[in-house]
Amino acid sequence: MKIAFAGKGGAGKTSMAAWLGDHLARRGESVWLVDADTALSLGQASGLDPSALPAPLAEREDIIRSHIGQGYMSLNPDVSHLPETLSVELPLGGPALPGVQPGQKRLLVMGAIGGEGGCACAANALLKAVLAHLILDRREWVLVDMEAGVEHLGRGTVADVDALVVVSEPSLRALSTASEISRLARGLGLSRQMLALNRCDAQEAPPAHLDLPKHMLRVPMLKGLKQRQLSTGSVLGLPEEALVSALCDELLICLCGHSNAPSLLQNAGVAVPAAHQSP
Ligand SMILES: Nc1ncnc2c1ncn2[C@@H]1O[C@H](COP(=O)(O)OP(=O)(O)O)[C@@H](O)[C@H]1O
Ligand SMILES: [Mg+2]
Repeated sequence: MKIAFAGKGGAGKTSMAAWLGDHLARRGESVWLVDADTALSLGQASGLDPSALPAPLAEREDIIRSHIGQGYMSLNPDVSHLPETLSVELPLGGPALPGVQPGQKRLLVMGAIGGEGGCACAANALLKAVLAHLILDRREWVLVDMEAGVEHLGRGTVADVDALVVVSEPSLRALSTASEISRLARGLGLSRQMLALNRCDAQEAPPAHLDLPKHMLRVPMLKGLKQRQLSTGSVLGLPEEALVSALCDELLICLCGHSNAPSLLQNAGVAVPAAHQSP
């Protein structure tokens, strides 16, 4: 299952990807957190010391050349060993569920792929191959923290995405960007979407004229995170842990229904409402 997080800068994409990754790992699932934003903050948000960040894939010219080649590109490289080579293990933000063996949580950093530079095309091809391997061959969870804005939606990072979380603040400008992202993603065939309205009050609702995903997750302002964010980059282990966990469950039920995550949802003791079950 591959879920991407998109939205304006500062909306909360990285925080939500870090929360969901930790939630899944502590419930026994193996998760790949993919930082596709050049701001490189997913590692820190997940509790990793910045000095331990892995080198971005886009900068590993040696690996790109040896797998994709120059001139004639190999379109079907063997990348089965690459995820481990390129990634680092992320610490869990808290204990696993009782009786559950925690899953692996690893960080892959993409770097500036598709910008200037000679091997952007090869880097993109390799990135696609690595992600396809994780999703199709290993059937593991892949959570992609995307670069802000809409122009990255067509890249390899969103190829084969099963579901999209459009993260937005409750403001007209942010929600207009969110609706643009949602529309573009639908145009790419990505119809399984959810709007995460971040830092919102219980009463706030998006204006009806905007074309937004029909399922909405309300994420309140978390005081515990606000209070400590000048001293740490991590968004895990918050006093609002139970709330974050309930939000992650809601998101999973809405986006995955029962078919892609039956064991996970049973482990978590979550009943899946029929309305949210995938076709
Ligand atoms: N619900 C929330 N409550 C309080 N602070 C939040 C919340 N969501 C995100 N933040 C904070 O807002 C800032 C931006 O969030 P981030 O996840 O980095 O956004 P993005 O990845 O979309 O740029 C971070 O400092 C994060 O800790
Ligand atoms: Mg971010």
